[in-house]
Amino acid sequence: MDSLGLFILLLLLCFQWTAAPAAEEVTWTYTGLVGQSEWSQYFPNCGGNSQSPVDVVTTQTKYDPSLIPLTPVGYSQHGNRPFTLYNNGHTAVIELPDWMGLAGFPWLFTAVQMHLHWGSGGPSHGGSEHTINGLSADAELHVVHYNSELYANMSTAMTQKDGLAVLGILIVTGEETNPAFNNILNYLSRIRHADQKVFIPGFDIQSLLPNDLGRYYRYNGSLTTPPCYQSVIWTLFHERVQISKAQLLKMETILYSSKAEEPDRMLLQDNYRSTQPLNHRVVFASFSAESWKELSSGEVTAIVIGVMCGCVGLAVIIRFIVKTIRFFRVLHHETVVVNSSTSSWDVLPSNRPAPMPRIKEPEKAKEKKQEVALNMTPEGEKKEEPSQSPQTEP
Ligand SMILES: *[C@@H]1O[C@H](CO)[C@@H](O)[C@H](O)[C@H]1NC(C)=O
Ligand SMILES: *[C@@H]1O[C@H](CO)[C@@H](O)[C@H](O)[C@H]1NC(C)=O
Repeated sequence: MDSLGLFILLLLLCFQWTAAPAAEEVTWTYTGLVGQSEWSQYFPNCGGNSQSPVDVVTTQTKYDPSLIPLTPVGYSQHGNRPFTLYNNGHTAVIELPDWMGLAGFPWLFTAVQMHLHWGSGGPSHGGSEHTINGLSADAELHVVHYNSELYANMSTAMTQKDGLAVLGILIVTGEETNPAFNNILNYLSRIRHADQKVFIPGFDIQSLLPNDLGRYYRYNGSLTTPPCYQSVIWTLFHERVQISKAQLLKMETILYSSKAEEPDRMLLQDNYRSTQPLNHRVVFASFSAESWKELSSGEVTAIVIGVMCGCVGLAVIIRFIVKTIRFFRVLHHETVVVNSSTSSWDVLPSNRPAPMPRIKEPEKAKEKKQEVALNMTPEGEKKEEPSQSPQTEP
């Protein structure tokens, strides 16, 4: 019995050791053996029902007028102190000073770090984590904050409900260089390998955000990387920020997920998680989708022109109706007069002038003109003759 018991105990220990390695020791990736579809085997929260990112279907969002514009606090004060930029093997992270935070929530949130997610195929080939109506952006910036009113620090807050507030900024590619992003991108070559770290000059973090902080989507979700804790109040801005194609290529091609000492270099690309089911969660919007403000200047112009054309059309129709009514009134008046004397509708046509003789006059004039024209070009007359004869011959 004793030896059997010991055997079973050893077997259990062995099983536990092999089947459930300590989650912190598992090196997760986006594809491969511990790719995103396997995350939940090692990190149970990744299989939860309030995961991030999600696809925001704008027609299914719920307008919530209590969602006031977000207020970054201290984002522009770097105090001439450098930021730490490092490659953690999954992304490029910038640590943020604790005087930066967010107002506009029921609690105070303190900034912790920000990082990026991107793709590999250049513009219009995906890279963002959140999508809007099924459409990806080229990259996405996340600014992470923890609830410093309820929790002592980031590590406690990240496991708790309402523990974190993350800002999601969708990044698209355009013609112009975005100088704010160069404050990060210019230093990526210094942290090419995982675990490398560099100090970079402090800069205005708010310059990375879109101008419009009033229009955003809000939902309850999770960290988008293991351990996927469902502790995040998400804010996804409606306005996207734009970087140049060259800037996107820098983001996509400079970093490695492998460490400097590792012989096989692995490019750090496609570090975005696919969208997760909403599972009855509601995505709230701080603005109503039907809002006029949402329309571009081109759309407004089109609507103005459309309305003007409509008004002109209506005016023409009204004028026609009024004219028609007047005509029938006159007609009615005439028939009444006629009826009183002859009691017959037949009288009416006789009132009209006979159309045939009137038309003949200008036609004769036309014919004369044509004759003159033909006389001036006698060949034309001759040419017409053969074309007429085949018609009569058979
Ligand atoms: C975070 O706060 C908790 C609770 O006060 C504490 O036990 C833990 O050591 C703190 N962690 C860090 C990294 O400061
Ligand atoms: C998030 O969850 C909390 C608590 O369950 C709830 O009060 C809040 O309304 C939710 N927020 C959103 C945006 O769904």
